[in-house]
Amino acid sequence: TKIAVFASGSGSNFQAIQEAIVRGELDASVELVVTDKPNAFVVTRAKNFDIPVFAFSAKDYASKADYEQEIVRVLRENDVKWIVLAGYMRLIGETLLSAFPNRIVNIHPSLLPSFPGKDAIGQAMDHGVKVTGVTVHFVDEGMDTGPILAQAAVDVVVGDREATEERIHAIEHQLYTKTLKQLFENKVNIIH
Ligand code: GRF
Repeated sequence: TKIAVFASGSGSNFQAIQEAIVRGELDASVELVVTDKPNAFVVTRAKNFDIPVFAFSAKDYASKADYEQEIVRVLRENDVKWIVLAGYMRLIGETLLSAFPNRIVNIHPSLLPSFPGKDAIGQAMDHGVKVTGVTVHFVDEGMDTGPILAQAAVDVVVGDREATEERIHAIEHQLYTKTLKQLFENKVNIIH
């Protein structure tokens, strides 16, 4: 299964997915990393695996439709079938959604529908929840709103954001790989 990973930051989820592929646990290939942050660490990670990067700056385009059209062109060129969002900090627009219907997934560091949007871990800790978690879901036009594919709970380390974040990232890396595997093998049931 040919996939593209979209990321704006560190790319630890990209790394976990790519390592699972290299270990032979996930039958997929990352054809391309797409980023809106040309200096993000994910670019270095991609280069370390010899994976091509399409980096763009939104400000160089007149509109979201314009840069998304360019992305669709590059994805088609590379025969990409699935888009895997991993810390991509932009809402996906109509252009990409209609080009990849039901083929875009995201991971979010909370038990959705709680704490969508930015800094979900901070939101959860500020709220004082004792259990938070991770959600993998299909992407629709909303912010972290598409049909849920998989979730895992994570205990908050009360008063320790860093430790909580570490736990969440570790679970993300397992859950994303596992869910992608099920998706690509057609083993996911979405009941909602
Ligand atoms: C993850 O927490 C993911 O759930 C969220 O953004 C973060 C990306 O982390 N959407 P990384 O860049 O994969 O390390």
